[in-house]
Amino acid sequence: MERKIFITEDGSTSIHLPEIDEQYHSKHGAIQEAYHVFIKYGLDLFKDEVEILEIGFGTGLNCFITYLESLKRNLTIDYTGVEAYPVLTDEIKQLNYVTELNAKAHQQIFNKLHQSEWEKEIIINDDFKLKKQKKDFKNINDKNTYNLIYFDAFGAKVQPELWTEDIFELMYEALQKNGVLVTYSAKGSVRRAMQAVGFTVERLPGPKGKREMLRARKN
Ligand SMILES: C[S@@+](CC[C@H](N)C(=O)[O-])C[C@H]1O[C@@H](n2cnc3c(N)ncnc32)[C@H](O)[C@@H]1O
Repeated sequence: MERKIFITEDGSTSIHLPEIDEQYHSKHGAIQEAYHVFIKYGLDLFKDEVEILEIGFGTGLNCFITYLESLKRNLTIDYTGVEAYPVLTDEIKQLNYVTELNAKAHQQIFNKLHQSEWEKEIIINDDFKLKKQKKDFKNINDKNTYNLIYFDAFGAKVQPELWTEDIFELMYEALQKNGVLVTYSAKGSVRRAMQAVGFTVERLPGPKGKREMLRARKN
C-alpha cells in the first residue's frame, strides 16, 4: 500500500495511506496524541519496571517517547513491538520526531530502535530492552506477560477485524493481573468488546480533536 509522509498540526510527521484514507496518528498532532493516550493515561500509572506491548510498532514514535520517559523517570522497560508491515528506511529518514522532541542527543537511539533485528531481544541501554516481532496481531499468544498494552491499530472503520472480542481476548490473556490497555478509540462497540472478555473499561478525556478515549484493566 502506498504510504505518504505528512505533517500533523503539532508539527510532527505521520504517515497517510491514500488507498484507505487512514493515517498512523491523529491529524491534530502525532506527538501530542502519543503523549496524551499512551504516556499520560498509560505509562504514568507505573513505577520501576514495566513490560509493554505495542500493537503496531509503525514509526517507532511511541517506543521512542517511552524510551525518553524511561530516562527521566528511572524506569526499567521491556518493550515488545508487534508489526506486520515495517516502515521502510527511506520513510524513517523523513520522520522528524528527534527534532520535534528536542532529542538530538538521542538520534542514535532512534536509529537503533529501527535498525534492531526482528525477533531478537536488543539491549538499547541498561534499562531498556526492545523486542520487535514481525507478525500479525492475530498471532500474539503471550500469557500473563505485560503490564501495559499500547493498542494503536488503525481505526475500526478500516480494520474492524482488529477491534473484536477475539483480539481483545488475546490482549487480556497477554496482560498480567491488573495490567492495563490504553487506546485512542472511544467507540461503544470497542468498549463492549473489551467488557465482554472481562476488562473493566474507563472512558477518559481524549487527545486534541477527540472527546474521549478508552482505558481497560484486567481484573
Ligand atoms: C495506526 S498505525 C500506528 C503505528 C505506530 N504505533 C506509530 O506510532 O507509528 C497501525 C500499525 O499497525 C500495523 N498493522 C496493521 N494491521 C496489522 C496486523 N494485522 N498485524 C500487525 N500489524 C498491523 C500497521 O502497519 C501500522 O504500523
